[in-house]
Amino acid sequence: MNVFNFFNGAAKVYGIIGNPIEHSFSPVLQNSLLDFMGSNGVYVPFKVDENDIEEAIKGLFKLNFEGINVTVPHKKSVIKYLCGLDNTAQKVGAVNTLKRTNNGFVGYNTDIIGLEKSFNINKIDVSNKVAMLIGAGGAANAVAVLLAQMGASDIIFVNRTFDNAKKLKNKISSFYSGNVHITDFEEMYNYNKPYIVINATSVGMGNGVWESPVKKEEFFNGVEYAFDVIYIPWKTKFLSDAEKYGCKCINGFDMLIYQGIASYEIWHDITIDKKSAVDIKNVLSDFFLNGGGDK
Ligand code: ATR
Repeated sequence: MNVFNFFNGAAKVYGIIGNPIEHSFSPVLQNSLLDFMGSNGVYVPFKVDENDIEEAIKGLFKLNFEGINVTVPHKKSVIKYLCGLDNTAQKVGAVNTLKRTNNGFVGYNTDIIGLEKSFNINKIDVSNKVAMLIGAGGAANAVAVLLAQMGASDIIFVNRTFDNAKKLKNKISSFYSGNVHITDFEEMYNYNKPYIVINATSVGMGNGVWESPVKKEEFFNGVEYAFDVIYIPWKTKFLSDAEKYGCKCINGFDMLIYQGIASYEIWHDITIDKKSAVDIKNVLSDFFLNGGGDK
């Protein structure tokens, strides 16, 4: 970034709210996009406590913020302070992108768009296929809605807490007519081989970096795709076990980049062409793999 091309007083202002926020990759991603697209703008991180969310949203509106990303733990709680929701955000019941309008911010969910893009570029087509989804939290919500939208024949939910999986099942039941199964970490191996197994839990990151939610790794034998929403570490134990059994393995980095690109497109009312998107992704993955993601 050349300092003389940097934003000036007419800059549009964007940001992200979450808690914690220090490890978010979004400021790097979004400021790179602003720079790459030659846009006069800046994107900043804000640590916001759950109790302050209403004031934060009102303040960001008054301060003329053009767009906001929302991350954990505010993706659901922020909704009641918005003036509208797009269809997908309504289906998921969670937002990660807010766009300014005259009346307030409208909420979008680009996690789903990023996930769908990641499926497309990695040639994952779940239509009429069996998908096993491990987890039932925020990330799993987006995955479940996408699997339902893409017409998977069966979704097998695997989760530690049955009630959370049940809630997710109820959420998609209004628009999904495929088969839904709920199981646990003991019984999951009794199902027929799924086409894809997706890890949407936090198992495999942080302190549990040597753990996989799939304890019997032979289960991957015959599974076509293993997808992990985690990207730190780049290759989780879940993915390295799956790789041993010949699965095609995808981590959460493409999803991360494409949800960010989708937010950018919504804020700027543009479509970033495929080649530019891949160029940006490659620059960011080089930066990330060289330690930039830890900053
Ligand atoms: P996120 O928004 O990142 O998805 P979350 O909403 O807290 O985070 O959800 C975390 C998911 O990981 C949940 O499905 C959780 O299972 P529960 O519904 O039983 O809480 C799952 N999870 C977290 N730690 C786990 C562990 N050690 N073993 C199994 N599942 C775990």
